[in-house]
Amino acid sequence: MIKTVGVVGAGTMGNGIAQVFAQAGFHVLVQDVAQPALDRGRATIEKSLAKFVAEGKLDAAARDAALGRLVFATSLDGLAEVDYVVEAAFEDRETKRGLFATLDQLARPGVMLTSNTSSISITTLAAATRRPELVSACTS
Ligand SMILES: NC(=O)c1ccc[n+]([C@@H]2O[C@H](COP(=O)([O-])OP(=O)(O)OC[C@H]3O[C@@H](n4cnc5c(N)ncnc54)[C@H](O)[C@@H]3O)[C@@H](O)[C@H]2O)c1
Repeated sequence: MIKTVGVVGAGTMGNGIAQVFAQAGFHVLVQDVAQPALDRGRATIEKSLAKFVAEGKLDAAARDAALGRLVFATSLDGLAEVDYVVEAAFEDRETKRGLFATLDQLARPGVMLTSNTSSISITTLAAATRRPELVSACTS
């Protein structure tokens, strides 16, 4: 059962993905190599949730609960504890291949690794891991 999600990359896509998971009740570890990206990601999510509250689409308790389910980190270590991983780092083949090899080392056996890539072959990313059958794309 998936309870905790790791989101790798806190840019435009990563922080949006993290927010959706947190609002849906999942605990989310947001990881990025750049602390400023994490700070921007958190601020963007806070602003978005505040807007939902102002518009009456979310109550303050739900906002606080969603924020409480988010953890931000530059370290990859916490990914050893997650049940599902979404990768949303730079659209660069070698960056993503390296990341998938690392994620494969860190994530528990059986954990699915997905990529938000818009152009890189998922087969190429899967080949960087020992669990190609558990690597998928999360964009159409
Ligand atoms: N922006 C879009 O509209 C859009 C739409 C569909 C798919 N995508 C895809 O989503 C992915 C992310 O796009 P984006 O627009 O959010 O990019 P972005 O440039 O806004 O953010 C990428 C983030 O990845 C981080 N990063 C880079 N290398 C990393 C690493 N090794 N480990 C952890 N974090 C790392 C960067 O610090 C940055 O914060 C890309 O694959 C892109 O093609 C983007």
